[in-house]
Amino acid sequence: MDQNRLSITDQRTGAQYEVPIVDGTIRAMDLRKIKTSPDDFGLMTYDPAFLNTSSCRSSITYIDGDVGILRYRGYPIEELAEKCSFLEVSWLLLNGELPTPEELGEWTGLIKRHTMLHETTKKFLEGYRYDAHPMGMLISTIAALSTVYPEAKHVFDADNRKLQIARLIAKMPTICAYCYRHHFGLPYVYPDNDLNFTENFMNMMWKMFEPKYLANPILSRALDILFILHADHEQNCSTNTMRCVGSAQGDPYVGCSAAAAALYGPLHGGANEEVLKMLDLIGSKDRVPAFIQQVKDGGGKLMGFGHRVYKNYDPRARIIKWAADQVFTVTGYNKKIEIALELERIALEDEYFIKRKLYPNVDFYSGIIYEAMGFRPDLFTVLFAIPRVVGWLAQWQEMLLDPEQKIARPRQIYTGHDERHVVPMAERHVSASGDA
Ligand code: CMC
Repeated sequence: MDQNRLSITDQRTGAQYEVPIVDGTIRAMDLRKIKTSPDDFGLMTYDPAFLNTSSCRSSITYIDGDVGILRYRGYPIEELAEKCSFLEVSWLLLNGELPTPEELGEWTGLIKRHTMLHETTKKFLEGYRYDAHPMGMLISTIAALSTVYPEAKHVFDADNRKLQIARLIAKMPTICAYCYRHHFGLPYVYPDNDLNFTENFMNMMWKMFEPKYLANPILSRALDILFILHADHEQNCSTNTMRCVGSAQGDPYVGCSAAAAALYGPLHGGANEEVLKMLDLIGSKDRVPAFIQQVKDGGGKLMGFGHRVYKNYDPRARIIKWAADQVFTVTGYNKKIEIALELERIALEDEYFIKRKLYPNVDFYSGIIYEAMGFRPDLFTVLFAIPRVVGWLAQWQEMLLDPEQKIARPRQIYTGHDERHVVPMAERHVSASGDA
């Protein structure tokens, strides 16, 4: 007897069904044949927020949230962070294998060739108010690139896809640095192709009067590691958005713009900025117990804690803690780390957090490092988006080439009125709910 089957008895009709189990899942469409009558639509699943639904097959990122494992294409995140550069990891995510020296050389050259923004895009950025949030600027500027590269809509042309992917990855740091300098009215700094990916980003951010900007190697490597840690995270909210928008076969710029919009929210990539605000609000180590109590009493969340998938320590948070120590050897100690460590210590011993399996996530410590390096808090989510664009694009490409994928279009359970008819204006009165 084939044990990989689910036997279902529909108590409404007494009918029995056999549904195959493949990779620990049943196909939702197999439930459709479960009907009470021939004209019944058939059984559906109801899964708000996709708590228990696999929406795709993917070979990019593997997470085991119960034990805290994260791998890209099979490689443990710890090994990639220690031994590889962000551009190597980008190639790995996009192509499935680590690059050879020749492939990495070619890939690095391609990225360097596309770091510049079209001058009209620069003018577009100049139109923002000086205090515009950088994420708002980033989201709309990525979408604007769709108008600069209209050929990007040919999404099934492999060479064209490769070019647009390189353009997007290359231009993200440039847009981010322009957003920062715009706020201060500083002149924009053009990319310097002598520098590597993170050094060049730091150059575009902070170059002032010096003829050549030289980034501190410890800081540029720490930033490179942070970029590796943020590059992909399987079907998170923004990646799901990228796949959903991409499923309508729009170009990758509008897809990445939508994904960045999803990332902006405080429950997702916006959490790193919120963590810093929270640490500022707490102010000192001795006020941590009172803050934890406030969270337990329902007065807000402990930002940077909890995860839909990780029910154990987020492996990225552990690496970030290590990177923080490296950064502090250059920048000096950031006092906020003391508050963060105390928050973590108390929360990890507290019944409320233990019961709910709430651990620090990637956003808990990243903001402290970014601040120590000199980034403003409103730039933190942009710093998340720079590397995550790689994951979005890898997942988008995988979705496009997956013959099982179609336009994303969930079903609903309709809870509104049955058919009713328009009452003439003169006969309408205030309804019971108070709405006209
Ligand atoms: N502080 C206090 N309580 C929390 C927290 C938190 N940070 N996170 C979850 N809970 C509680 C929640 O109130 C619920 O309690 P109860 O069972 O009594 O109702 C329980 O834990 C389960 O939480 P949930 O809201 O059902 O979990 P979720 O999987 O829907 O949400 C999350 C995951 C990340 C949105 C959530 O943990 C959260 O809001 N965390 C704070 C924001 C944050 O740090 N986000 C960054 C996530 S990691 C990077 C990324 O993906 O961008």
